[in-house]
Amino acid sequence: MGFFLPMRYNALVLKKHIGIMLSKTPSWKKLQQKASDKSITDLRKLFSDSNRVDRFSFKFGKLHLDLSKNWLDESVHSLLCKLAEEMQLSQKIDDLFAQKIVNVTENQAASHILVRDPSRLKDNHQALFTFAEKIKQHQLLTAFGQPVKHIVNVGIGGSYLGPRLVTEAMTDLQSNADMTIDFIASVDDSLINQLFLSIDPENTLFCISSKSFGTVETLNNATAILQRLKNIPGYNTSQNHSSMMAITANQDRAVGLGIPESHILNFDHTIGGRFSLWSSIGFPIVMAAGEQTFIELLKGAASMDKHFQQTKFDNNLPVLMALTSIWYRNFMGLSAYTALPYDARLRCFPAWLQQLMMESTGKMHDASGEQLHYPTSPWVFGDHGQLSQHAFFQAFHQGNDILPIDFIGVLNPLSESQQFLLVNMIAQGAALMNGKTADNPLSHCLGNRPSSTLLLEDLSATAMGQLLALYEHMVYTQSVLWGVNCFDQPGVELGKDIARNIEQHIRHNTLNQLQLDPSTEALIQHVMKDE
Ligand code: F6P
Repeated sequence: MGFFLPMRYNALVLKKHIGIMLSKTPSWKKLQQKASDKSITDLRKLFSDSNRVDRFSFKFGKLHLDLSKNWLDESVHSLLCKLAEEMQLSQKIDDLFAQKIVNVTENQAASHILVRDPSRLKDNHQALFTFAEKIKQHQLLTAFGQPVKHIVNVGIGGSYLGPRLVTEAMTDLQSNADMTIDFIASVDDSLINQLFLSIDPENTLFCISSKSFGTVETLNNATAILQRLKNIPGYNTSQNHSSMMAITANQDRAVGLGIPESHILNFDHTIGGRFSLWSSIGFPIVMAAGEQTFIELLKGAASMDKHFQQTKFDNNLPVLMALTSIWYRNFMGLSAYTALPYDARLRCFPAWLQQLMMESTGKMHDASGEQLHYPTSPWVFGDHGQLSQHAFFQAFHQGNDILPIDFIGVLNPLSESQQFLLVNMIAQGAALMNGKTADNPLSHCLGNRPSSTLLLEDLSATAMGQLLALYEHMVYTQSVLWGVNCFDQPGVELGKDIARNIEQHIRHNTLNQLQLDPSTEALIQHVMKDE
């Protein structure tokens, strides 16, 4: 059977990394047996233990995690921890922090944790902070000789979601931002048209964020923007005057687009795109919320790094969340996962998590190319909790499918609206668990539906750093147990290759030479007919 492994993947290197397969561990069978025991999914019965809330509540830093409403008991909990040991999780955590090659298919370490190491913060980010300061002090001006009053981040995936999420969270949705930031991700003329209606291009800095500087969406947008700027009288670039800047791990390509070196911030290629907000990709956060907030964010994440590295599995928040998700995915057969922040400032969190989890662990081969015969990443989705209630909660309460839910709430300051949100969030968890018996069967809610609740003491930069690093390490733990490399994404290349191929044939008018399936061919014909 064929599967996609880019040529640069060295089979010998990969063979070295063959580990134990999750389904071959001694605990796998025992957990399967546990899963067939009906009492483990009976939340009411599980709560007959008066100590349950305490037993399954965990705390680290500004985070409080309540796992008590999950289909877990003491024995499942300890078997899951055993499973993690059997998969050598401790060793793999050490490897991550020792900068060993954990991204085995690309033969490199994963250094997102290094850029937030508190002992090197200033050094690691000196170029970023100096550049931001020069913009703020008007030492660097736009190509129209104007001070920068507005920034547009042009990027997609990890070069978009993390910076946007944190910028919104740290500035009350930009209502208290030092400088306003817009984000352009998809390729769409209407987005750029709309953007140019709302900004003054003469004092706007366009920040082209792309690790590879080869992502077609970002480059198309950058080129379209550049074209528009050049058409405005007075456009003139030099070392200190530029309306475009770049953040990339591939400086040469940015220079090739005409961006002056003085306006390029680099970051290391060993930082994965979806883990990159801690690097100079975090520039929009620094501009909107300030250098100090960015430092606190990194320190918050670093404190979670330490917790992940040093805490025993049975008290380790990222490990516990990963093990719970694996319990549901591999033993209970639940295929989805939802994250519901009850706070508008975190409205981008579900999209950020979706990329983080699905792009990292949506894989059917282990790192050596061996096919895995168990499911990996769940389908991750979510939205602002209150909006979700009026969209998809009906299916949560009365649908025949069940899924793990993460409720996320922010405690302080407890304004009236904040209290309303938290009460609603807690009520939903209770309703899902307790259900409702009604004479009319149509009103009947079975209940017994699990959920986890994560409470943040506040939405400070420290708490935000801890929250995001928590989920990053959860995903790393999942990947170790599932035996997949969470730092590559070979699958997303296939669709891009086909699109490139079709485009080339359209350009050369040779569509008839394309070997396409009939449905795809008919759809292309429709597109071309409308041209
Ligand atoms: O979706 C594929 C992907 O490579 C992501 O991993 C990445 O975050 C995104 O595209 C953007 O990539 P880049 O930062 O290189 O433009």
